[in-house]
Amino acid sequence: MRNKPTVQVYSHYTDEDFEVWGLLFNRQMKHLKQHAGRLYLEAVDNIGFRADKIPDFGATNQMLQAATGWQLCVAKELVPQDEFFRLLSQKIFPATCWLRTMAELDYLEEPDMFHDVFGHAPLLMEPAYAAFMEAFGKLSLQWLEHPEALKQLSAVYWFTIEFGLLRENDAPKVFGAGILSSVGETRHALSDVPARLPFDIERMMQTAYRTDILQDKYFVIDSFRQLCDALPLLEAALARLPESAETFAVS
Ligand SMILES: [Fe+2]
Repeated sequence: MRNKPTVQVYSHYTDEDFEVWGLLFNRQMKHLKQHAGRLYLEAVDNIGFRADKIPDFGATNQMLQAATGWQLCVAKELVPQDEFFRLLSQKIFPATCWLRTMAELDYLEEPDMFHDVFGHAPLLMEPAYAAFMEAFGKLSLQWLEHPEALKQLSAVYWFTIEFGLLRENDAPKVFGAGILSSVGETRHALSDVPARLPFDIERMMQTAYRTDILQDKYFVIDSFRQLCDALPLLEAALARLPESAETFAVS
């Protein structure tokens, strides 16, 4: 049974944990130097992540606080959706602090610290990305009772924060955490196999996805500012949804 701590006790990390972090960090950075967006690569440096040191949440939070006011909090595992949106709205990102084992390097059923921290934390240093995450959390909180709205909001999160691509000098680059933290997904996302679609928030909201396979389509944004600018359109599209069955029954 895996030990999933609710606080980060740095002295509890084992030699294997350090080996796993270092190996994954070096392997990913080798690919990402070429394939990740410039802002992500700069943010990895600025937040202080290195191969030989598992990130300390306290030190990471100081960097985030100074840059955008965001914080990581330790989550034992995936947090419920309503709690997740509430945390985002307060500029808090829930992250696990345990690492996969050497035997699980390339496949893991649930997000570990490498995904949550290496994948998600650096871009929270970036003001436009951080502003989008906060606004997305606040907007989502208003739709907790509406299953169809939540489904569409989840699709937006999936195709941006988890599996988003960003155009840079006319080439697609990676910024979604689900790609950044996976060698296989990095290679696949930029290969000729999947479809790469131009950013369209309304199409994104309606696009189905699977969580158990390499993605067959990715949306490509032009900038994080573009994501922020699309929020009013997202809000308006949600407002046009018919009331949910539950809401209707109560009213
Ligand atoms: Fe994630």
